[in-house]
Amino acid sequence: MLIFLIGFLIFTILLLFIITSAFLGFLFTRVPFVPTGGADIEPMVKRLGINNTHQVFELGSGNGKVVFLIEKYTGAKVKGFESTLWTHLWAVIKKYITGSKAELVYGNFYKHSWQDADFLYMYLYPPLMPQLAEKAKTDCRPGTTIVSRDFPNSHLNQIDYFKTPSGHEMYVYQI
Ligand SMILES: C[S@@+](CC[C@H](N)C(=O)[O-])C[C@H]1O[C@@H](n2cnc3c(N)ncnc32)[C@H](O)[C@@H]1O
Repeated sequence: MLIFLIGFLIFTILLLFIITSAFLGFLFTRVPFVPTGGADIEPMVKRLGINNTHQVFELGSGNGKVVFLIEKYTGAKVKGFESTLWTHLWAVIKKYITGSKAELVYGNFYKHSWQDADFLYMYLYPPLMPQLAEKAKTDCRPGTTIVSRDFPNSHLNQIDYFKTPSGHEMYVYQI
């Protein structure tokens, strides 16, 4: 009985933590956590030509799935920025379980430099596009490739477009 009560208490605390942190994250970013499908990553990295000489940054890396899979398929150096605490912590736990070398940064990606990225991956939201383009043009080196899932960014120079196996649209830009 005691074990059951302790288990129930831990479960309730965890659930409250996730709900509160998801709510606060959404209040701050206005972008809900919606994960990219894992099956879309391998075709994407092949199409983009990402390899182990590249650095890939993910803006809003959620549970880390995308950075872990890009690292696994390409050997690229990967870095994710995430401001919702529960998804960030979940990603950190997965990093230690899997032995990934991904760098996971907790915080607002606008407050960090994107200068070292060869590729920027994002699955964000249309109202953010002007500010994302402005920061990319200021921070990124010429030649940096930017990939936006589902939402186009008319403020950037588009070089490619494709659909993933799950039917999602991928917009590819270059600085
Ligand atoms: C639609 S989810 C995508 C998650 C992950 N990129 C994926 O594709 O599986 C967008 C994520 O971006 C995060 N996010 C939005 N704006 C952010 C910001 N300014 N700084 C850090 N993270 C942000 C949200 O918290 C959310 O987890």
